[in-house]
Amino acid sequence: MNPKKSLFENFGKIYQRADKPRPSMYKRDLPWNGPAFSERILSEHLDESHGAASRVTSERGIQLDWLWQKLALFKNAHLFDVTCGPGLYAIKFAKRGCRVIGVDFNAAAIAYAKDLALSERVASKCTFIEQDVRQLNYDGENFDAAILLYGQLDSFARQEAETLLQQIAYALKPGGKLCIEILNQAEVDKTDSTWWFTDDQGLWADDPFLHLGERFWYEDEQMSVERYYIVHLETGEMDEVFMCTQTYSVEDITEMMQAAGFSSVQAYPAWDGLPLYDATEWMVYVAEK
Ligand SMILES: C[S@@+](CC[C@H](N)C(=O)[O-])C[C@H]1O[C@@H](n2cnc3c(N)ncnc32)[C@H](O)[C@@H]1O
Repeated sequence: MNPKKSLFENFGKIYQRADKPRPSMYKRDLPWNGPAFSERILSEHLDESHGAASRVTSERGIQLDWLWQKLALFKNAHLFDVTCGPGLYAIKFAKRGCRVIGVDFNAAAIAYAKDLALSERVASKCTFIEQDVRQLNYDGENFDAAILLYGQLDSFARQEAETLLQQIAYALKPGGKLCIEILNQAEVDKTDSTWWFTDDQGLWADDPFLHLGERFWYEDEQMSVERYYIVHLETGEMDEVFMCTQTYSVEDITEMMQAAGFSSVQAYPAWDGLPLYDATEWMVYVAEK
């Protein structure tokens, strides 16, 4: 289609968008496993100038020491990295002697993790699986520990999160430990906002684009929904992307973890005081089966 006509039509769609539709109407998350997006987000995971997709190496090192201790890891421990991304944690744990299974549905990230395991000479200790973690079906009592880091649990609908926690509990040995990192509900921005920016290329597109963003806070559900329109300026085409973030109080997530099969749950606000640039935004929980 003629780019100008396409732009005109797409701005009309933006004008007619739903004002503040119910969260259940949205697709919930970024297109992590979309072919082009998955390649672009992989670059963000590996970009050491920011920690937006994965934390930078120096911060990961600090977390690894903490996790090693809190999860009582040991040489040959069997570790489950749920939403492992490009395997940046998994491979470091493998280098410390763990046997690791990492699962993620971003094909580009999984391919990267497999290559990294080879180049770091830990391929025999690592298995990376491209799979949607909402369809986990692992044997029971297999892992000594599991990690689910950097807020991914918040992106799932509450019921999906409950099921995922149950699946992880099932996969752990008795006494096995899980560490999850979710947003600190008290620190989350609870206002509505809008923004825009342009770029020649980046996370949202490989071509010049206009990004229009809106954020809604839903007090009853204690969740936010962000809606992005990506307008491709050369073709006039447009993408609509949503990102939902469910937040949990300490009591709420503790109950969910107990209902999933964990006997004890310990909360660590602000990453237990570790020097991470955004530590105060996070709550970390270590639960024991
Ligand atoms: C913020 S990144 C964190 C990656 C990794 N844990 C880290 O900290 O480096 C979230 C990851 O979750 C993955 N992900 C999101 N939804 C998923 C799903 N339903 N199944 C599997 N992986 C998923 C994404 O592909 C992405 O790699």
